[in-house]
Amino acid sequence: MRSIRYPKMTEYFLILFCLVIMLFLRATLPSSARPLMQISEAIDWSSARRPLGIEPCRTGNPIDDCWRCDPDWETNRKMLADCAVGFGRNAIGGRDGKLYVVKDSENDDLLNPVPGTLRYAVTQDEPLWIIFDHDMVIHLEEELLVKSYKTIDGRGFNVQISNGPCITLENVSNIIIHNIYIHDCIPAWKAMVGETESPQHSEEKSDGDGISIFGSRDVWIDHCTLANCHDGLIDAVYGSTAITISNNFMFHHNEAMLMGHNDDFLADKNMQVTIAFNFFGEGLVQRMPRCRHGYFHIVNNVYTEWEMYAIGGSANPTINSQGNVFIASDNNSTKEVTKREYVSENDDWKNWNWRSDGDVMLNGAFFTPSGRETPASYMRATSMVARPASHLTTTALSAGALHCMIGKQC
Ligand SMILES: *[C@@H]1O[C@H](CO)[C@@H](O)[C@H](O)[C@H]1NC(C)=O
Ligand SMILES: *[C@@H]1O[C@H](CO)[C@@H](O)[C@H](O)[C@H]1NC(C)=O
Ligand SMILES: *[C@@H]1O[C@H](CO)[C@@H](O)[C@H](O)[C@H]1NC(C)=O
Repeated sequence: MRSIRYPKMTEYFLILFCLVIMLFLRATLPSSARPLMQISEAIDWSSARRPLGIEPCRTGNPIDDCWRCDPDWETNRKMLADCAVGFGRNAIGGRDGKLYVVKDSENDDLLNPVPGTLRYAVTQDEPLWIIFDHDMVIHLEEELLVKSYKTIDGRGFNVQISNGPCITLENVSNIIIHNIYIHDCIPAWKAMVGETESPQHSEEKSDGDGISIFGSRDVWIDHCTLANCHDGLIDAVYGSTAITISNNFMFHHNEAMLMGHNDDFLADKNMQVTIAFNFFGEGLVQRMPRCRHGYFHIVNNVYTEWEMYAIGGSANPTINSQGNVFIASDNNSTKEVTKREYVSENDDWKNWNWRSDGDVMLNGAFFTPSGRETPASYMRATSMVARPASHLTTTALSAGALHCMIGKQC
């Protein structure tokens, strides 16, 4: 039998010393420029608060409950990779690689990425879990082409990518983007980066999306805030699949999310996307998302005051809307959640499988279903289990980039 070893006095002192240092560091963190994304206070459709006595970090949101209660989230960062749900749940990002700390928000150089910059980190061939060492606003000179097996993890700081071209995932897999505020993205000359070759300029301009996903799979975008980009906030096209878009806060934007390249691009039939726990806030007009061909599980989101429509599509996409809250604006002509584009005169849209299951409709909102009501048509693939929409009205929602403090539950 082994005897229990008690720590020596010096070890107690060491622990105490570390605690004091940690408290000191926390107190000196800059408090300015905090993200404005904690939106729970802004939700006026529910005056209900979490009942007292329940552990406040547990919300019923399976992604958040997986890591936000852990005060050591900073040392256990990579645990996040096992918290995804939905079609993108197998995205491991840089879990099996080293941590890489971005220290330099300037010096963006496409052809010779400078060590310490985000571009240097995302263009490495090895898996990397990329983190940041201070609050920073990154203005990119060109599209940020991210290679496979990368996590961009902004927890602990206010990390923004803005007022330049933004993120492109092209022909890659296993990407996690977490806790980044992405806004005011504009088009730029596209870079060409193969998985092995060095980058070059191309003749083509990018669309100016927040996050543009081409021909990629196993992608998870969680707790980001996205607003006011030139084209889409998150677009996924050219046969991309196995994607989860969760816990994001989107606002002030016209065409929020395009899923599927065009009606004739049949490779998008394999597309599977889960859109869960997002908050679609003020000033969004349409495409939350606009879908083609594939299978879209839209679950436990909150939609407020879309200015044209919330969920739309063409070319026979399957749309399974479950447990969402739709709050229409007061404008009588925008009460409908759904919109079918390019419908032919023979009413073939009536065969498209679009259903609303357990959604809460407020202020006159309505969803026009079509196709077969039978669950079988929606069981083609396993995405995730929907919670009752009432959960969304009784727990405080915290979509978007979070303000996580090192050493505390987030
Ligand atoms: C991605 O794949 C497509 C189709 O194979 C190809 O045309 C395109 O050039 C590739 N893009 C990059 C950045 O490698
Ligand atoms: C109501 O919505 C329609 C359709 O988006 C728009 O054309 C119209 O201007 C809106 N009316 C008001 C008073 O905002
Ligand atoms: C909107 O619709 C309601 C109910 O049909 C009606 O009472 C109201 O006058 C309409 N408002 C406008 C601005 O058209």
